[in-house]
Amino acid sequence: MRTLLLDTLQGKSSSSHPPIWLMRQAGRYMPTYRALRERHSILEMFRNPELIVQTTELPFAVADFDAAILFADILLLLDCFGIDWQIKPGVGPVIAEPIRRAEQIDRLCRRPAEEALPFWRPAIQELLSRLDVPLLGFCGGPLTLVSYMVEGESSRDLTTVRKWMVRDPKSFDRLMGIVTDAAIDLLRLQVDAGVHAVQIFDSWAPMIPPHIYREQCLPHMRRLRASLSVPVILFSRGSASHAPLLAELEPEGLGIDWSCDLTSMRKRLGSKIVLQGNFDPHLLFGEPQLVRSEAKRLLREMRKDSRYIFNLGHGVLPETPLENVQELVATVQELR
Ligand code: CP3
Repeated sequence: MRTLLLDTLQGKSSSSHPPIWLMRQAGRYMPTYRALRERHSILEMFRNPELIVQTTELPFAVADFDAAILFADILLLLDCFGIDWQIKPGVGPVIAEPIRRAEQIDRLCRRPAEEALPFWRPAIQELLSRLDVPLLGFCGGPLTLVSYMVEGESSRDLTTVRKWMVRDPKSFDRLMGIVTDAAIDLLRLQVDAGVHAVQIFDSWAPMIPPHIYREQCLPHMRRLRASLSVPVILFSRGSASHAPLLAELEPEGLGIDWSCDLTSMRKRLGSKIVLQGNFDPHLLFGEPQLVRSEAKRLLREMRKDSRYIFNLGHGVLPETPLENVQELVATVQELR
């Protein structure tokens, strides 16, 4: 197996290029993915082990990424609670009956991930026998999962959640705890099935003021992090304000978005933690020469830093020209 990503996460230095993988590396920017989507709904793809395997492998026809990430979604965790959800074109995730009152929390009943998500383990096992790069598992951060459960869809400012946190912190904490238990269960399943590392996506963290995030969200993230026996990368948006909080949990890696530069993050966080990021996905809409020069700028910035994984600051955007993804990966991998 090409172990570059794991070596980096374990702090081994290498004379090679930094490992590169991209969040949403399997997605709508690929004609082969769009062709699959014409035949299957997105939830059908997420819930079918053969389609999970096939889709996870699709991006390797585009470029030689140094890691694969299981093709699934953080919201599948809602299946453990029997919560009805969909992904509506042009809208995004929609939850049928959002949780708006404390009594609804008491009625939540959780089934084990193994039972509610029976396709997850076989997909991992099949991928492990086929891939020659590390396989990443993942789950959502408790705040991000709770945000969808409460708001009912992607919300610009999480108003309902933030009011709840202030008005009734006790029941909010209970909901966060229940969701964290489910996330721990799903991560355990993935680690037990053999994933090499995991990433926890707490994408909505920057909506919460840092001191409140520390008080009401970080303890749950800490418990999630502590449940893991494989290297973990913690990711949120709004890294300028929230990455230092996540760094307190001492993850092996930290995903950084474009709200700060990696050099200043490195100065702030010390030399031990692996930094991952933070190429702006919008730069992939420029000419290939621009993609190349921007990638080189980032590589120059990190050239003396062996604890670095090249990635975007957030996922690949659907309309991204595929050639530019290839240009990006080639630019990083040409470096020796
Ligand atoms: O990185 C990967 O490709 C691995 C698989 C993965 C997906 N979503 C596939 C997906 C992972 C790790 C996620 C995480 C996820 N899902 C997050 C956290 C990271 C982030 O993006 O902030 C969140 C908030 C979600 C919820 C979700 N699922 C959203 C907001 C959307 C986008 C809706 C849209 O129409 O753009 C999804 C759908 C989704 N998840 C797609 C993919 C490839 C698009 C599917 C399609 O319509 O073909």
